[in-house]
Amino acid sequence: MSSYIKYGIIGAGTMGQEHIKNVNLLDNAKVTSICDPNEGSLNQSSSLITNDFNSYRDLDELINNDDADAYIIATPNFTHIEVLEKILKTNKHLLIEKPLCTTIDDCKKFQLISKDYSKVIWVGMEYRYMPPVKKLIERVHNKTLGKLKMISIREHRFPFLKKVDNWNRFDSNTGGTMVEKCCHFFDLMRFITQSEVKQVFASGSQDVNHLDEKYSGKVPDIIDNGYVIIDFQSGVRGLLDLCMFAENSEYQEEVVAVGDKGKIEAFVPSHDSGKNISQVKMGMRNSSTIMTDDMEVDKKILMAGHHHGSTYFEHLAFYDAIKNNTLPDVSLEDGLMSVAIGQAAELSIKENRVIKMSEFNL
Ligand SMILES: NC(=O)c1ccc[n+]([C@@H]2O[C@H](COP(=O)([O-])OP(=O)(O)OC[C@H]3O[C@@H](n4cnc5c(N)ncnc54)[C@H](O)[C@@H]3O)[C@@H](O)[C@H]2O)c1
Repeated sequence: MSSYIKYGIIGAGTMGQEHIKNVNLLDNAKVTSICDPNEGSLNQSSSLITNDFNSYRDLDELINNDDADAYIIATPNFTHIEVLEKILKTNKHLLIEKPLCTTIDDCKKFQLISKDYSKVIWVGMEYRYMPPVKKLIERVHNKTLGKLKMISIREHRFPFLKKVDNWNRFDSNTGGTMVEKCCHFFDLMRFITQSEVKQVFASGSQDVNHLDEKYSGKVPDIIDNGYVIIDFQSGVRGLLDLCMFAENSEYQEEVVAVGDKGKIEAFVPSHDSGKNISQVKMGMRNSSTIMTDDMEVDKKILMAGHHHGSTYFEHLAFYDAIKNNTLPDVSLEDGLMSVAIGQAAELSIKENRVIKMSEFNL
């Protein structure tokens, strides 16, 4: 490996470009190749790269030239499995955008074919690295709150953005909202609780967004709001509160963990607010004061993405794993389980019943 790490971006749309901006902020790192069949995405991402790089429209061409040390896969969800099957040939480090795949079966298929892979395979779950969320996780894991009992996550935000060829308007392309976007929150809950899920009950529907849109004669079918109740094997209870028609919210994500000794809350400002200060508040049951930590993200890092600086911190960790060839922070098992919980929530909504995780072949 040369003195700097060479990154190849596969899928150079919204998220691919966020990755380019964040690799640009790293020392000793360069994007040396991009691959996308869409001319607009190639042009936009090319304008973000100042060093020499190769540009491909076809994945096979990128694989044959193999001019990077690590590949970042940021193609539409339904294409992940076919891209992953091919990219294994390169035997390079991989960061795969969430959701790992759109179904449990595809996640398991990839897990199986990559079981002897010798390089880092990392699933992109950057919410773990949002500074206030990271602090909450540390406090729960070091038992500051005593024994964890409840974890709730509220995401109130804007509707799904437009994507290239509108792939994100249909469950068949995304895995469904509970997989596509909520896999982040299920991953967080599972990571915070350090427990597997026993059962899931969800209520949700598409009530407001995209109902006046049509693609090839079809109206989108993606859920825009819902509640998901999760029972963990450890006895911890989880709740997800998702609303995607709540643009003018002060906080985009609010994460609350309650233990038998106290409670901690992490507040992540909405991206559109442009705020670089987030808050963590903690109150113990035996005290009358609430401790508030204001946490600041450098504006340069904030502006390199839509995720409160977390993509940059994810990249620092991925870079270290590449340099040292260590285990990923977010494994294929984590990727699989976050998709499985999302699939259970989608099924619960469709069938209006509690879904036991034992119903799946995990
Ligand atoms: N981690 C996060 O918070 C986050 C946020 C947004 C998107 N994502 C994920 O990133 C991925 C991409 O989403 P996006 O928002 O950038 O979508 P997008 O539509 O903006 O970009 C996807 C790009 O992939 C290209 N593409 C399609 N098939 C390809 C192939 N076989 N090879 C190479 N390129 C191909 C498309 O032409 C397009 O330019 C999705 O999996 C999505 O879930 C993650």
